[in-house]
Amino acid sequence: VRIVRDPDAARAIVRAWRGKGERIGFVPTMGALHDGHRSLLRRARRECDRLVASIFVNPLQFGPREDLSRYPRSLARDRSMLIAEGTDLLYNPSARAMYPPGFTVRIEVPGLGDGLEGASRPGHFAGVATVVAKLLNTLEPDRMYLGQKDAQQAIVLSKMVRDLDLGVRVVVCPTVRETDGLALSSRNAYLTRPERAWAPSLHRVLRETAAALRTGEMTPRGAEASIRRRLANGPGKLDYARAVDAETLGPVRTARPILLSLAYHLGKARLIDNVVVRRAKGR
Ligand code: PAF
Repeated sequence: VRIVRDPDAARAIVRAWRGKGERIGFVPTMGALHDGHRSLLRRARRECDRLVASIFVNPLQFGPREDLSRYPRSLARDRSMLIAEGTDLLYNPSARAMYPPGFTVRIEVPGLGDGLEGASRPGHFAGVATVVAKLLNTLEPDRMYLGQKDAQQAIVLSKMVRDLDLGVRVVVCPTVRETDGLALSSRNAYLTRPERAWAPSLHRVLRETAAALRTGEMTPRGAEASIRRRLANGPGKLDYARAVDAETLGPVRTARPILLSLAYHLGKARLIDNVVVRRAKGR
């Protein structure tokens, strides 16, 4: 894998490939790669002629009391995975290259970026949208691969791509889970042994609540309340549990898929997870 830190150099390499008519697949990451990232890399590798990944721990998307300084960094291990998955180019810019002194632009996606994660992490999605717009501008990929685990991120970025005519197709890939159901996340590394043993409860509660929503046994509000009740005595603290329209992230509408999602503080980790509920006909 070729590792490039300079934006102009990365742009020139990718442009040369595009010039030959090659299709460019792009997987943006903050590193600390796990099998969730691997599934994105594999899909991109399968569907495109060139596979480009980025690793950049983006300070703009972390709040002042969040985990920027201790976010896991493992470039040597990440590099091995990128090589194993046939990555052609790793774009790994410095913070200075991304945000030179005087950088002030922010891309906001109002509405879609305001609820759920956006409500708990003010400024988060402006940070995500801004960095991804810059990455897309530099790399000009044909397709960008994102994970469903960060469902709101995928929706916010898809809207940004549409509104700004960025001309990249956004491909959202299923959440990858441990065998016990815990969604893979770089932040799982923060969990102690007992926390890790408890963590799959989040997905179990989501799954069971989703089943009750699907059959109509629970209403969206009832589902949120049920999750709050069931997690009230856990070892951490529920940040939010929400049932929203899976596309607009607004109020649930009859017969449309529901995004049931939660965020939970467990020890030093803040874990998020979601399931999409497609209701039985007539519900
Ligand atoms: O999902 C992530 O790892 C990040 O939010 C992303 C998309 C790489 C932007 O920094």
